[in-house]
Amino acid sequence: MLELVQQGAPDPMFTLKKIADADNDPRKVDLGVGVYRNEDGRYQELEVVRRAKKILDGLDLGHDYASTTGDEEFLRLGAAVLFGENCEALISGRVSSVQTISGTGANSLGASLIASTVPSTKVYIGLPTWGNHVPIFQHAGLEVVTYDYLDSTRHAVDFENLLDNVREAPLGSVFVLQGCCHNPTGVDLSPQQWGELAQELSTYNQVAFIDIAYQGLGDGLAEDATGLRTLADAGLEMLVCQSFSKNFALYGERCGALHVVSQKSWLAEIVKDQLRSIIRKTYSSSPAYGSRLVKIVLSDQSLRTLWLKKNRQNLLSHIDAHHIPGDWSYLVSERGLFSCLQLTPAQCRTLVDHHHVHLPENGRINIAGLSEENIERAAKALKSVVCLGSKVRL
Ligand SMILES: Cc1ncc(COP(=O)(O)O)c(C=O)c1O
Repeated sequence: MLELVQQGAPDPMFTLKKIADADNDPRKVDLGVGVYRNEDGRYQELEVVRRAKKILDGLDLGHDYASTTGDEEFLRLGAAVLFGENCEALISGRVSSVQTISGTGANSLGASLIASTVPSTKVYIGLPTWGNHVPIFQHAGLEVVTYDYLDSTRHAVDFENLLDNVREAPLGSVFVLQGCCHNPTGVDLSPQQWGELAQELSTYNQVAFIDIAYQGLGDGLAEDATGLRTLADAGLEMLVCQSFSKNFALYGERCGALHVVSQKSWLAEIVKDQLRSIIRKTYSSSPAYGSRLVKIVLSDQSLRTLWLKKNRQNLLSHIDAHHIPGDWSYLVSERGLFSCLQLTPAQCRTLVDHHHVHLPENGRINIAGLSEENIERAAKALKSVVCLGSKVRL
């Protein structure tokens, strides 16, 4: 039998990672996989995860099986992060949440739910997209219809094209959309477009399938969830895939959830039971470690604040407090992981050589490398190199 097995479809990311891992050249810069790195190009653990690990260690919870559908408190907290505490669908019990093997597992489980319920469902996916979307739905046996997501001449969403597809698709089709920080284009729908889309999906009775793998890494937790919250408030049927890989830097722990929003609470109970049944047949239960850490953070107000802390704003406040000359306001108008401090190469070298503040000569800093513990030292060091000759002591 095994001589009949064919090679799997090639995966460019798998090959890229293999080549990058095998490259031991000190000049290596790995820009391939979507993982945040520190200045040495190594894994960057979040401060808040480090603290949660210590707490978890003390709890000594053992390694029993998790329940098939997952930890209910983790799921409740995760759903609130997505939909907001006051979401009507959550309050009225219309959301069925189950733990999954991270975002990929949530997509796959959602696809299985659709395939086992209405196998003839057409799944609409805008291209380009995350390389796994089309394979996941096809693997579940569903027909995938693709359309152009991006109007590359304007570098904007081809929104009219998306709406045309919503209007022309057979009723009850599924539209896969990314909640925020679109991979790979970085181009998201605007809040107005989400509103318009919600109306059209509702009019044409289509189902939204939202994949949100980067919540909190765009404009903020609530802002990044604007789209899916707009759809939920419009009373649509929808599936939402939640990943904690990126926003908690828990990539290898495979921590995530699938949340299915039904139009009636009694339907939500049946949906949850069907999900239980599919999970049992496929992976039985999800890994517990990552979800235990996320639960500790989300249920503790001070850890939660630390998770949400705005390093950019924090650095600017320290700079203001030390009256460091110059206009540093760009720190809070920029987004993402990096910022280029307006320093000369000589100033950067002084920071490294005399203050142990490591940054390249172009002044690019990893904002995530700042913590409560080191931000004050970094600000003082910055002051001493900017105010040359000043006698700031570290
Ligand atoms: C859009 C999107 N969805 C889902 C995922 C799945 O990630 P994970 O399985 O680690 O949660 C990724 C990962 O890169 C992604 O970019």
